[in-house]
Amino acid sequence: MMRIVRAAAMLCLLTGCERGMHQMYDQPRYRTQQPSPLFADGNSARVGPHGSVAVTGGVAADTSSGRRGVLASRPAPEPAAWDLATLQRGQQRYDIYCAPCHGATGSGDGIVVQRGFPAPPSYHTDRLRQAPDSHLFDVISNGYGVMYRYGDRISTGDRWAIVGYIRALQLSQHATRDRLRPEDITRLEASQVSPEGRR
Ligand code: HEC
Repeated sequence: MMRIVRAAAMLCLLTGCERGMHQMYDQPRYRTQQPSPLFADGNSARVGPHGSVAVTGGVAADTSSGRRGVLASRPAPEPAAWDLATLQRGQQRYDIYCAPCHGATGSGDGIVVQRGFPAPPSYHTDRLRQAPDSHLFDVISNGYGVMYRYGDRISTGDRWAIVGYIRALQLSQHATRDRLRPEDITRLEASQVSPEGRR
């Protein structure tokens, strides 16, 4: 008997909860562009306070707690070229956002990983060396497996700059001799230490 009473009570609570949720969805609200007598300009749409900066952007923009079920997909313009300034910007952003997990050289051994977060793959594998730029951009924008997405935290231009810097990191660990300038080869040979001289 007690069990039935308890079950009935639970049912009431649960249905009450469900109704409560719907009341939240259906509460009075203005529709887009609807006029309002509340404000002097007669407009229900309000402009943010002077000097405020909108922070929602990227693929998650325009969605509200996933209710629309889809992410707004935005075309992602690719940069014409990665010049030195862009790569330096990419390096700075990478060191802030990615190095804590991926490590300064992209080997997947960042400080967060050393503290127990699942290790990401190294960028220096054939698969990720051959992955198109668009894959890297997509991973940064939308996340990948346990990696969180950065589309709403890093601007489109900065995401491309980071992609360029990942390419630079990959090259730094996998450059062939014919891609080096003569002065680089001289410096490399001068810096080469004999096995006995290695510390
Ligand atoms: C909190 C730790 C963390 C941060 C910060 C992080 N990542 Fe990751 N990343 C991961 C993990 C873990 C994986 C592997 C995910 C999986 O396979 O489930 C991964 C995977 C990747 C991959 C490989 C995808 C593939 O095809 O295997 C790329 C590329 C990548 N991350 C780029 C970035 C970039 C660029 C940033 C900075 C904007 C970044 N990550 C920030 C943890 C992180």
